[in-house]
Amino acid sequence: MRLFRGRIFSPIADPFTVDPARSYVYYDDGYLAVDGDRITGVGAWRDVPKQSSTLTQLGPDVLITPGFVDTHLHAPQLEMIGSYGGDLLEWLNRYTFPTEAKFSDPKHAEMVARIFFDELLRNGTLCALIFSTIHERATGTFFEEAERRGFRAIIGKTMMDRNAPPALLETPKQSYEESRTLLQKWHKRGLIRYAITPRFAPTSTPELLEAAGQLKREFPDAYVHSHISENRNEVQWVHDLFPEAEYADVYDRYGLLDERSVLAHGVHLTEEELELLAHRGTRIAHCPNSNLFLGSGLFKLHHTLESGVVVGLGTDIGAGTTPSMFTAMSDAYKVQQVQGVSLTPFHLWYLASLGGARALSLDAESGSLEAGKSADFLQLDLKSTPLVALRSERASSVEDLLAGLIFTADDRVVRECWIAGQLVASRT
Ligand code: GUN
Ligand code: ZN
Repeated sequence: MRLFRGRIFSPIADPFTVDPARSYVYYDDGYLAVDGDRITGVGAWRDVPKQSSTLTQLGPDVLITPGFVDTHLHAPQLEMIGSYGGDLLEWLNRYTFPTEAKFSDPKHAEMVARIFFDELLRNGTLCALIFSTIHERATGTFFEEAERRGFRAIIGKTMMDRNAPPALLETPKQSYEESRTLLQKWHKRGLIRYAITPRFAPTSTPELLEAAGQLKREFPDAYVHSHISENRNEVQWVHDLFPEAEYADVYDRYGLLDERSVLAHGVHLTEEELELLAHRGTRIAHCPNSNLFLGSGLFKLHHTLESGVVVGLGTDIGAGTTPSMFTAMSDAYKVQQVQGVSLTPFHLWYLASLGGARALSLDAESGSLEAGKSADFLQLDLKSTPLVALRSERASSVEDLLAGLIFTADDRVVRECWIAGQLVASRT
């Protein structure tokens, strides 16, 4: 058994539905006990179990907290972060599609995959739902790199068969077969899961969506990962392409919506669509940084939650401009502020950890520091920069400590990353 002694903070419940003061545990001087890949105990140091263990003394300047969960991002778009000007559809055509076409080259995919997982880990993201490109080989490379790092990843080959350059189009049959091959190889292999990944309705013919639905019927516990109602022009385009249905109905018609479906954005959903998503259990990945960068709109977080839809937080690289979940929390805060809603740090930290795990149906296994769960945690260095040190020292409460981190910390704060009881990244 291993014991870590330091400050500990973990969400343990949903502050949107229970009293936020009861939604977490915090110990100034606490312990985390780990046996193999599992957490066996969390508590105040004075209550530490008297068993022989290897003790790591971290002291009051290290905060132990669950790993961050990024519920939506695109690995191949890392190299085009900050490609500016224009809204979603212009951005896709001008920058995104040419960038993704480069992933026909396996060497390019290998290079980006290495940097991609380095970046996630250096930012404390230990679990993520990831888009690849249409390329089977490149997608395989992302799976291999995730496995090599011991990362908890859900990845899928992008499926698309219209409204993109020819180099990024496939036939529904090809898309089905290549996706199926990858799914059979990777789904539920160790910490890895597969997501059936039709890019979004506008790049899908009905036949492609049918192929995706066929896969979902064959493998009901696979994930479905796509986009919905990010941008008003996109919504209008979907109405033109599929005149007889609302956006959410398009996916529903092909059996693509259940509690393992995660749709990014949902900024412009109608009441009927929200009701349908809630009924199906479909999750929304809220990506505030991306919504601001592309000028997509302001997500109605409370209304979406009150409609009964589970929401996680995502960076949406490369429309999002950073892999940092601190920035995701900070931007989520600001997007609600301008709409007259103030989220507390408990709400934000929940969305970035346990809430994200819940959105990915992984909350029984990860997302919080609780006995029985996988030992997926971070050590944050509260002295990582002079500013973080000053802000943390002056913090008047745990709430204030977390707020300071959300708005001042960057990747330098992440000292060690542990997944399933293994040290997977370290700055020390
Ligand atoms: N909708 C369809 N594809 C994409 C993409 O790559 N990024 C974003 N933000 N939205 C999309
Ligand atoms: Zn996206």
